[in-house]
Formats: sequence, structure tokens, C-alpha cells
Amino acid sequence: MLSYVFMKILEARPASYDRRIDRVDGGRSRAARQAVQARVADGSRVLEIGCGPGTLARSLAQRGCTVDAFDANRAMIEEARSQAGDLAGDLADHLHFRFMGVDGMDRYQAGAYDAVVSTLVLSELSDDERHYALGHVARVLRRGGLLLLAVEVPPTGTGARALHALARAPAVATTWLITGSSTRPVQHLRDDLAGAGLVLDDWSQNAGSALAVVVAHRPEEA
Ligand SMILES: C[S@@+](CC[C@H](N)C(=O)[O-])C[C@H]1O[C@@H](n2cnc3c(N)ncnc32)[C@H](O)[C@@H]1O
Repeated sequence: MLSYVFMKILEARPASYDRRIDRVDGGRSRAARQAVQARVADGSRVLEIGCGPGTLARSLAQRGCTVDAFDANRAMIEEARSQAGDLAGDLADHLHFRFMGVDGMDRYQAGAYDAVVSTLVLSELSDDERHYALGHVARVLRRGGLLLLAVEVPPTGTGARALHALARAPAVATTWLITGSSTRPVQHLRDDLAGAGLVLDDWSQNAGSALAVVVAHRPEEA
């Protein structure tokens, strides 16, 4: 339940990030990434927000997708490019990694993507960044296109929420001491999606879990 607080620490070492996050959260974020990936149709044009070392983008490229992916951590992008270079054939040509924050999303073309994906990123954004990013998601998706998220949110149920908030505090303090930053569970994601003009289709979250897999789409009519 608390593992997502420590992600900021794991991000400092992109080459071992996937392996260590697996160890810390017992494979839950890997499973969430797979759940996101499974909702993307083969051959889609995809934009990934906060791609980290590019694991999800590579899996999508192996299914014929073309992926534009960006991340605000230069070392993550270097790792993503290096690992893409190891892919067989011309798969790397389907992957475009950019060192950039969400504040640069205005560069992407309106209506250009079948899907936008983002895993374990929204909880690292400020409220303004999240609203800005979701606004651009609604702009860059084609009509009917999908937004697929794995996102840290408060657990469901009052007791679980209170316990989570209490237990989280020391982990947040530790992460702040080491990295000068932390994650924040996204509190009002349903409102944020609606505010951006996106329609929520599915919200999947296990009891007691702070990780949700969320599916939304850009409506056919504006
Ligand atoms: C916990 S990692 C998740 C990486 C990958 N998506 C995954 O599922 O493993 C969060 C990523 O979001 C990136 N990030 C944080 N704030 C960002 C921002 N404002 N713009 C773009 N990327 C950002 C971080 O650099 C980091 O690589």
C-alpha cells in the first residue's frame, strides 16, 4: 500500500528501476502496466506521459504500435533510448522518446493518437500540471480515443483511507529527506477527467489498494 511513496527514490537509478520497483511492490505496478497495455489495440498510435525507462512503450512497439513517449527525467530517457536500441529489427523506429515535462505537451498534434497511456505518473504532478496534462490528453486523442492510467489514489473505504494516510506519513518524510520530493495520491481524478471533457469508462481498484487502473475516452461529439 505504501510502496508508491518510494518511487521517487527508485527513479534515481533508471537502469535498475524496473527490477527494484518489482521487489518493492511485489509486481503490482508491473501488473497494472500490463492491464493498461492490454487495453491498447495492436497497431495503435500511442502517446505515453512519463515513460520512465520505456518498458510499456517497448511492449507496445512489439505489438505494432507507434509510440511517442516523454519523461522529465533525462536519465530515464537515456535509459529508454538505450533499451530500445536493443530491440530486434526496426522496432526502435516505432519509438520516439523525448526529454520533456508535461508542460511541453502543446507540441503534440490535435487528434493524432488512438490512445494516451500513463502509469504511476499523475501522483508526481502538481494539481496544475495534472489539469494541464489532462486538457492536452483530451486535445491529442482522436474522437473515441482512450486514456489508460495506472494511478496512485486513496484506497476505498473510510477506515482504509485513514490507515493509509497515517501509515504513509513516515514514508513521505523519508522520501522527502532523500529526494526532496514525494508522490501524492490523486484525490479527485473523476472530477479532473470530467473537467477535461473525458468520459470515465472503467475504474479498477482492489480493496485496500492505493493503485487504480482507469480507462476513459474522448467522446465522439465535443
Ligand atoms: C514512478 S515513475 C513511472 C515510470 C513508468 N511510467 C512506470 O510505470 O514505471 C514516474 C515517472 O514520471 C516522470 N515525471 C514526473 N513528473 C513529470 C512531469 N512533470 N513531466 C513528465 N514526466 C514526469 C518521472 O521522471 C518518472 O520517470
